Amino acid sequence: MIINLLVLLLVVSLAVLFGWLCYRAIRARKLWVKIAGGLAAGLLTLVFGAITVISVIGLAKMNAATSIPVPNIKIEGTPAQIARGQYIASLGCVGCHGVKEQFPLAGGTDMAGEIPMPIGAIVTSNLTPGGVLKDRSDGELFRAIRNGYGKDGKLLSFMSQLSYRQLSDDDIKAVIAFLRSQQPVTSDQPGGDHINLLGAAVFFGAGMLPAPAPIEGVITAPPRGATPEYGKYAATIGDCRGCHGPDMTGTPASAVGPAVPNPRPFVATWTREQFIQVMRTGTRPDGSKLAPGMPWQSASKMIDDDLTALYMYLKAPVQ
Ligand code: HEC
Ligand code: HEC
Repeated sequence: MIINLLVLLLVVSLAVLFGWLCYRAIRARKLWVKIAGGLAAGLLTLVFGAITVISVIGLAKMNAATSIPVPNIKIEGTPAQIARGQYIASLGCVGCHGVKEQFPLAGGTDMAGEIPMPIGAIVTSNLTPGGVLKDRSDGELFRAIRNGYGKDGKLLSFMSQLSYRQLSDDDIKAVIAFLRSQQPVTSDQPGGDHINLLGAAVFFGAGMLPAPAPIEGVITAPPRGATPEYGKYAATIGDCRGCHGPDMTGTPASAVGPAVPNPRPFVATWTREQFIQVMRTGTRPDGSKLAPGMPWQSASKMIDDDLTALYMYLKAPVQ
């Protein structure tokens, strides 16, 4: 924070400096100094002025605390909850919070390494009882997963963008029960957001990372079964919708990644058994392999019932 403010001070100083030079150039006696100097210094004043404004907005948004309250809950941690939570965590959370994508969820991976700009560090949190869980209430963890805000009420830049916010209340509670049941792993790596001024300006100031609409009220999962409705929910648990789009019809290429295809036309030509086979092996019925961008290794951990529901969902009319 202090460094961000110092850099901001530098940017402001540059804006003022060029503003002053512009003023001096315009008042100069020589005509060419007036025109060339005035234009150059004026332009730089505008540039640094704009950077100042975007940075100030970015810092303000990044450090603003949410008004979404921490729910007052106490999770029992029954064996059934822990088992369900472990299943969900094994599909998605482990990919980022795991160590080399395996349990334990000790975190420590800097996700900012994948972003082609030096915006600081975004480190996955240690979600074992040896890490942040120590001083997080069940309610604080619930709000982090559902609405993407940390203990201090600030937006969690990565977590807030994930489709796990659509998990049912019961499933979020199950995940928290599992997190608390793990063996503690201690780590020195401070997890969380350590975003610099450039990151604040680009993500928050320029609006590349909008805070998602808050979710209020209770979310209940549809009844389990081989139905398109439950399949859509399975696509949330499996984080399929995060890549293939909210209704699984594909997403165009963007600043954050390449295009992801619509799987529906392919799935329409496969039997249920073939679909499960593709998800379990990464190989299509015609023998071709799925590109590495499709994390079938994670989908392969889904139980048959969930894959069957997914199949029903992908064959049904788009919803
Ligand atoms: C795409 C990577 C990714 C996935 C998948 C992911 N997380 Fe996170 N998570 C992060 C990062 C990075 C942070 C650090 C703060 C930030 O930048 O969002 C974080 C922070 C958190 C926090 C806040 C910890 C604190 O300081 O209070 C919780 C809780 C959490 N994650 C739970 C989960 C759970 C549960 C899952 C699975 C359902 C999950 N995460 C899946 C990347 C991920
Ligand atoms: C990290 C992003 C990502 C996630 C998460 C993801 N997919 Fe994919 N998926 C892709 C990409 C990229 C391809 C294209 C692979 C290729 O061209 O070979 C793909 C391909 C597919 C295909 C094959 C389409 C074809 O070309 O034959 C199916 C089916 C599919 N995904 C289903 C799923 C399901 C179901 C889930 C959730 C369990 C899921 N995907 C999760 C990125 C993703």
